[in-house]
Amino acid sequence: MNRQIAGVRGVAALLPADCARWAAVEDRLRALMEAYGFREIRLPIIERTELYGRAVGEVTDIVEKEMYTFLDRNGDSLSLRPEGTAGCVRAGIEAGLFHNQTQRLWYQGAMFRHERPQKGRYRQFHQWGVEVYGMAGAAIEAELIALGARILRELGVKARLLVNSLGTPACRERYRDALVEHLVAHRDRLDEDSVRRLERNPLRVLDSKNPAMKDVLDAAPMIADHWSAESREHFASLKDHLSALGVAFEVAPRLVRGLDYYTHTVFEWAADETLAQATIAAGGRYDGLVAELGGAATTAVGFAIGMERLMGLVTRLPQAAGLDVYVMTPAALQGRALGLAEALRDRGVRVETHLAAASPKSQGKRARESGARCIVEAVDEEGVAILGTGAIESGTVSWAQAAARISEILGAEAKIHDQ
Ligand code: HAM
Repeated sequence: MNRQIAGVRGVAALLPADCARWAAVEDRLRALMEAYGFREIRLPIIERTELYGRAVGEVTDIVEKEMYTFLDRNGDSLSLRPEGTAGCVRAGIEAGLFHNQTQRLWYQGAMFRHERPQKGRYRQFHQWGVEVYGMAGAAIEAELIALGARILRELGVKARLLVNSLGTPACRERYRDALVEHLVAHRDRLDEDSVRRLERNPLRVLDSKNPAMKDVLDAAPMIADHWSAESREHFASLKDHLSALGVAFEVAPRLVRGLDYYTHTVFEWAADETLAQATIAAGGRYDGLVAELGGAATTAVGFAIGMERLMGLVTRLPQAAGLDVYVMTPAALQGRALGLAEALRDRGVRVETHLAAASPKSQGKRARESGARCIVEAVDEEGVAILGTGAIESGTVSWAQAAARISEILGAEAKIHDQ
């Protein structure tokens, strides 16, 4: 036998059993996107590397340490997308989606970050993201948060909602000065990374997980003390909207997020459990990004769900669209069984046919495992036996009448799906 080739560390296939769970959740998410007026956008997996430096920030963990960056055959520096927001803005500007109009967009797909793999943290992971353009107030933030809360509630995921405000760029500027003053006073306690960040992007020092710096960071000034009147009003309005909608939240004065593009509101859902990778979904407002990437100034807000983390916490799976009929057949009748399956599918019935040579016993086992609402067995040239399951009656029927009769029985039990 040839030597096996190992997969890439932190990059996993999603196996059929997991795919079925994911698909059930994804179907529900799609329906919710429609229910909130969002339209899908499919974004490229590779972008020019400079996009992420400019959007996410040169001095961030993602851009400094985690991107999969390579030169293509033309010598252009490209990167696998580490997140979706930058690419969404880039594509939206190019397609003129932001001119004098509002947009509600959603996307989903694989993202890539060269992080240290552990439970809930992978090098290829999936996000489900929503982004809204052209709406400046706190009402849309509350609506997005209500959407996120609904998703978690429906799926039976318990999480705390943390909210904070980073204020306007001017607020951040003032905060930056106060923070630098504090950090410089404790320079000897900072690690090497933080000293470098102190000069280039001091807010990112707050991302440090170094326990030796915890005291210094705990004592750091708060951004809330540097909010302008406008920022304070914006945040108060968000809290009012959330309260009116009955969405529970906690104000987290230290929440700053690891990407540079945020202004005003930022938020995260953290799993209740004491998980190492507790953040299930996160986002915020990023009013400066469209202009930063060369578009006309456009307000923006969004969030992304980490699908692996979400799926790890789902306790209530939406009803997956199951199989209606499983057709067992001896090898000699496979052609007829195929014809029956196609005729049933014409009527909107979901059918799986056993097309491998196998004993009736093993076919029966597979049929029961399939979860089909009705099992039928090709008996001979005369017709099929309807074996039924649950409340469905048994009986035999000719080939000519089989499709009509089976779909009638299924229709009587519950409606057959629209095609
Ligand atoms: P983020 O916080 O970097 O934000 O990622 C969003 C979510 O993706 C995280 O809360 C987490 O659930 C998941 N995630 C991130 N890294 C990993 C990983 N290595 N393995 C597994 N899951 C991971 C963003 O990406 C922003 N683009 C969100 C956003 C959208 N802001 C505005 N619009």
